[in-house]
Amino acid sequence: MQITCHMISSVDGRQVASRWTRAADPAADMHKAYAEAAAKLGADGWIVGRKTMAEFAGDIVEVREPVEGHPTSFVSTFFGNREDRPLAIVFDTHGTLHYKSNTLPTGEHIVAILGSHVTRAYQKELEQAGVSYIVRTPGKPEEETLDALKHIEKDFGVKHLLLEGGGHTNGTFLHMKLVDSMSVIVYPGLDGRAGIPSIVEFEDNAVENPMDGLTLELTDCEKLEGGLVWLRYAVNR
Ligand SMILES: NC(=O)c1ccc[n+]([C@@H]2O[C@H](COP(=O)([O-])OP(=O)(O)OC[C@H]3O[C@@H](n4cnc5c(N)ncnc54)[C@H](OP(=O)(O)O)[C@@H]3O)[C@@H](O)[C@H]2O)c1
Repeated sequence: MQITCHMISSVDGRQVASRWTRAADPAADMHKAYAEAAAKLGADGWIVGRKTMAEFAGDIVEVREPVEGHPTSFVSTFFGNREDRPLAIVFDTHGTLHYKSNTLPTGEHIVAILGSHVTRAYQKELEQAGVSYIVRTPGKPEEETLDALKHIEKDFGVKHLLLEGGGHTNGTFLHMKLVDSMSVIVYPGLDGRAGIPSIVEFEDNAVENPMDGLTLELTDCEKLEGGLVWLRYAVNR
């Protein structure tokens, strides 16, 4: 399975688009540029972290307290009604996101990656909403991530996924050398505030150089409408 990390960044590398200064050219449209580039990348869907999905749409509600009940006793994949739609995959291992529908307003079918400690009651809630899920085989965090990806590939027939953030999810995937290519759209704006996350974040202080061993090779560079630039890199591992 191929993974392309697809992100939009300010000129100073930050990821929170609502904070950026406006572009000089009024034709600069970050949402259009991001969506059009994603369509050109031609993937079977995308994968995001829990925080990014929580921001995604009004129909998704985040409740930090887990649903009460007995932890699930089995590891499995549940298939909601996908109907050939592209996938919107979210790492929500504690089961904090609640859905009214199994389809996003943009048309993707939701697949939740769950930890084996989520309750059966939470699983049933997803089943009633028709949301697909994968319960990861318990192990070390990296093993659990690899197990989830194996199931996405095998159970859902996925060949190419876009990794669409946020920075922490990207950082984990890049550190694990799971990313084949990067697709970064640079928006002509600035954030500027110290401490605002970049499009790649890896917080484990025990790891001094988390991206060690990766080299980026420029494969394409395109000037887009409004002064945006689309950069493509192969990630050599
Ligand atoms: N500029 C862009 O293109 C772009 C794109 C997407 C998002 N964003 C922005 O990014 C921000 C959110 O990013 P973020 O980095 O704070 O959070 P995030 O990556 O969206 O979510 C991080 C959370 O996802 C779960 N997770 C991710 N990978 C996992 C793995 N391999 N195994 C288990 N759990 C995993 C963990 O949830 P738990 O804590 O529950 O364990 C983790 O805390 C938002 O402001 C959003 O607007 C920007």
